[in-house]
Amino acid sequence: MVLYRIMIEDSSAGPSALSVPDETALADLARLKKERGALVLAHTYQLPEVQAAADLVGDSLELSRAAARTDARVIVFCGVRFMAETAKILAPDRTVLLPVESAGCPMADSITAEDLRAFKSRHPGRPVVTYVNSTAEVKAESDWCCTSANALKVIEAVDAPEILCVPDRNLARWCQRNTKKKLIWWDGFCMVHVRITPEDARAGKAKYPDALLLAHPECEPEVLDLADHVLSTSQMLAFAARSPARRFLIATEAEVVWRLRKDHPDREFYTVGAAQHCLNMKKTRFADVVRALEGGKPVVDLDPGLMDRARLPIERMLALA
Ligand code: 13P
Ligand code: SF4
Repeated sequence: MVLYRIMIEDSSAGPSALSVPDETALADLARLKKERGALVLAHTYQLPEVQAAADLVGDSLELSRAAARTDARVIVFCGVRFMAETAKILAPDRTVLLPVESAGCPMADSITAEDLRAFKSRHPGRPVVTYVNSTAEVKAESDWCCTSANALKVIEAVDAPEILCVPDRNLARWCQRNTKKKLIWWDGFCMVHVRITPEDARAGKAKYPDALLLAHPECEPEVLDLADHVLSTSQMLAFAARSPARRFLIATEAEVVWRLRKDHPDREFYTVGAAQHCLNMKKTRFADVVRALEGGKPVVDLDPGLMDRARLPIERMLALA
């Protein structure tokens, strides 16, 4: 973690501040993946050295879809626990490995199944739309899942005028601005995104008046008010790739900014305020991926009945296309 600490302290340093696996390490990994029949999935917030090990890098929605359609025997999920659980729920007959067991998501852990049952009994008759950033137990109590890429689409597809949304209040508040339905939300939040302030957004816009501000819906509403576009992580990458704009302010986890700078060296990408890092996402290193493949662990193990109940809301979401 020493190199990563350097990067955190110097927010102008990019992923080049970290070691990226050399060709021999990557060739050894490719051999190991083939031997094990493994697919390596990595979230966009993962370290560059982990992204280099991956067969697919994407946002939660893209990675869920990949897990649902793969015929690989083993899925190595480089992300946080709820993502690996989602992969296991969608591919229950595959072995799913989470290279660092302690990689969790405080937002997902902000609501338990018991909390959700109590929330539902306080608001009876309303369906529940649960952000994929949630535990398997909470999904099992839900009617629909959504990701940041499709939340509004899911809300509109639910056949009800009032909907309970858990666990992220900011994603729910953003949807509330864009739907006539009444949303009632849980008070969860992402501590990484809420550290991005409207003052930082205003300062960024004052410094770069021609820049487009792209913000993740987990940011506070006052930041989203200032955004030109509210997008999931992959939507940001796709938007920047097709936009004629030369400068961007990016309000999400810093890895997205490094990635954009790497993909588009002729354009300018800035964090909004200091670079914000999800330290849970940064727990996984290249060596952990290799170790997981070699040892076939740590395995994500969930109760089959729980998985059956949790699969329903996820499949409903995926069927929306
Ligand atoms: P995406 O849905 O954009 O992948 O975001 C997941 C996440 O954890 C954001 O903090
Ligand atoms: Fe969870 Fe926030 Fe990290 Fe995403 S960035 S995994 S919501 S803590």
